[in-house]
Amino acid sequence: MAYRSPRITVMAKAAEKAARSLKRDFGEVENLQVSKKGPADFVSAADLKAEKILKDELKRARPEFGFLTEEAGIEKGSSPDERWIIDPLDGTTNFLHGLPHFAISIALEVRGEIVAGVIYDPIKDEMFTAEKGNGAYLNDRRIRVSARVALETTVVATGTPYLGRGDRGPFLREVNAVMAQTAGIRRWGAAALDLAYVACGRYDAFWERDLSSWDVAAGILMVKEAGGTVSEVEGRPIKLESPSILCANIDLHPKMLKLFKESGKY
Ligand code: IPD
Ligand code: CA
Ligand code: CA
Ligand code: CA
Repeated sequence: MAYRSPRITVMAKAAEKAARSLKRDFGEVENLQVSKKGPADFVSAADLKAEKILKDELKRARPEFGFLTEEAGIEKGSSPDERWIIDPLDGTTNFLHGLPHFAISIALEVRGEIVAGVIYDPIKDEMFTAEKGNGAYLNDRRIRVSARVALETTVVATGTPYLGRGDRGPFLREVNAVMAQTAGIRRWGAAALDLAYVACGRYDAFWERDLSSWDVAAGILMVKEAGGTVSEVEGRPIKLESPSILCANIDLHPKMLKLFKESGKY
């Protein structure tokens, strides 16, 4: 097995432990307690259990670090410099429908910068890891973004705004533009995996609006470390709080920006 740094080892072990809990719950999904956070926005006992396992494991390894997690929010650590940004179950809707496509996402932020990320798909047993300056890996093998540059050959992933979220207008124009110019669109329902799939070249590009920092923190680093470019849909530099995200390889990224800029034509 290729070398894993101590912090990636800690993150991967925590993800594997939480994944065992998710897999057990996925086997009996019909018995799970589910509650509503908002219109079409659900949280289940599986999300909460996985989040607790991740926090307990990471606290044991690095007691001084803080947390930003989807379900519990902010928990300050004794060190002001480091915090974990966690989505314990990315793809809750898939999970609750028995669709085997979901993941755990963990990022480590040090003094405001993401320096390490892990995205783990328990069903396919795929562990995506990345560290700043050290590349991106899938099950310890180096990954790179795709080399496709002609729009008509590319497969582009997205996420659709659901009930009560966001303005659908710009998104629908973008979908029309992408449909008119590319080989196809995919919407698989787990943003962290969408980013990991761009990093390993399965998708050529990905865009979405209204994501949260825990959806993208690990994935942005993953795509960059795999040689890709990440920005907002209008081309502004990406931040964790950005209202939109667009990523692709460095040749395709400007073409996608241009396509979106001209999306009113489609
Ligand atoms: C969701 C997924 C989905 C995206 C949604 C996210 P969750 O995360 O990443 O693909 O379209 O915007 O909220 O709630 O399943 O962790
Ligand atoms: Ca959620
Ligand atoms: Ca998510
Ligand atoms: Ca989630």
